[in-house]
Amino acid sequence: MKPSSVSLLLGVRVLLLSALFAASLDVRPNLQQFFKGDSVVSLSCVDDGQSDRWTVKRTRGGHTEDCGAAADFRRVNSSVCVLDLSISSGGNFWCENSSGQKSDDISISVSEKEVILEIPALPVRTGSNVTLHCKTRNSSARKSYFFRDGVRLGYGREGKWILLNVQPSEEGLYWCSTAIHQSSQSRLRVRDPPPLPPHTTITCTSPPSTSGNTDPPAATSPPPTPPSPPSPPSVSVLGLCIHLLVFCPYVISTILLFLICYSRN
Ligand SMILES: *[C@@H]1O[C@H](CO)[C@@H](O)[C@H](O)[C@H]1NC(C)=O
Ligand SMILES: *[C@@H]1O[C@H](CO)[C@@H](O)[C@H](O)[C@H]1NC(C)=O
Ligand SMILES: *[C@@H]1O[C@H](CO)[C@@H](O)[C@H](O)[C@H]1NC(C)=O
Ligand SMILES: *[C@@H]1O[C@H](CO)[C@@H](O)[C@H](O)[C@H]1NC(C)=O
Repeated sequence: MKPSSVSLLLGVRVLLLSALFAASLDVRPNLQQFFKGDSVVSLSCVDDGQSDRWTVKRTRGGHTEDCGAAADFRRVNSSVCVLDLSISSGGNFWCENSSGQKSDDISISVSEKEVILEIPALPVRTGSNVTLHCKTRNSSARKSYFFRDGVRLGYGREGKWILLNVQPSEEGLYWCSTAIHQSSQSRLRVRDPPPLPPHTTITCTSPPSTSGNTDPPAATSPPPTPPSPPSPPSVSVLGLCIHLLVFCPYVISTILLFLICYSRN
């Protein structure tokens, strides 16, 4: 009974989420900087399998064009577009549908320099480990320095720098340099793990029934009402349910949660 209710609830969440979030752009390989002469980058729009309703677009130098409109920005099939790195100079890319809804955009640069920084193009998750590579044109590993927003982070012996347990405060413009050459700058974006409906996170971490029990100095200022007796687990669950009922913006989700709690008693 309970597992089926939970999966039903999850199904409702997925429906709500697909209504709240637009498509996103997928980039392979997931990098922002390439050398001129590398092969291709694949770009596609991800939207619960309805990718053909979204078009990959690009802007460079104030000029916007659709996938397929330029020799270096070719359509492979209904869902995949490629950027040809032998002739391209990159640009900013995003997905857009016919009503003008846009995804986040992603910047791709194609460098004629000697050094690039390999850094993810898509946002990374808070808490993950992110490896940055400082790469020379002939791929030999080199000692290199890594920078963020003008601050030197440190020295990577094999041309590698790992951001352990990455946090939103580590967002910023990164670049690297060898003894001679410096890469272009690219922005790292850090996002919290995949969205759950915000009310679930907030209400479940702060159940309302704990407010009276957590104050140690009860002797100095006795409350006007007598302290409530120690509440059995069912009461705090009921309290959570009432809390959800009052504050949840999503009515269906609330009713389902209430049903789950009710079936427990
Ligand atoms: C474009 O995407 C938005 C957000 O997902 C959606 O509300 C809208 O209906 C879409 N337009 C078309 C024509 O599919
Ligand atoms: C489009 O092309 C890509 C890469 O060649 C391939 O992986 C994908 O399956 C193709 N998709 C369709 C719908 O043909
Ligand atoms: C990140 O790296 C550290 C040290 O190698 C490891 O202990 C940890 O499990 C890694 N975290 C993730 C999310 O992979
Ligand atoms: C790579 O290029 C650097 C100069 O850019 C050169 O000093 C080095 O010898 C090259 N390494 C290899 C393995 O070709």
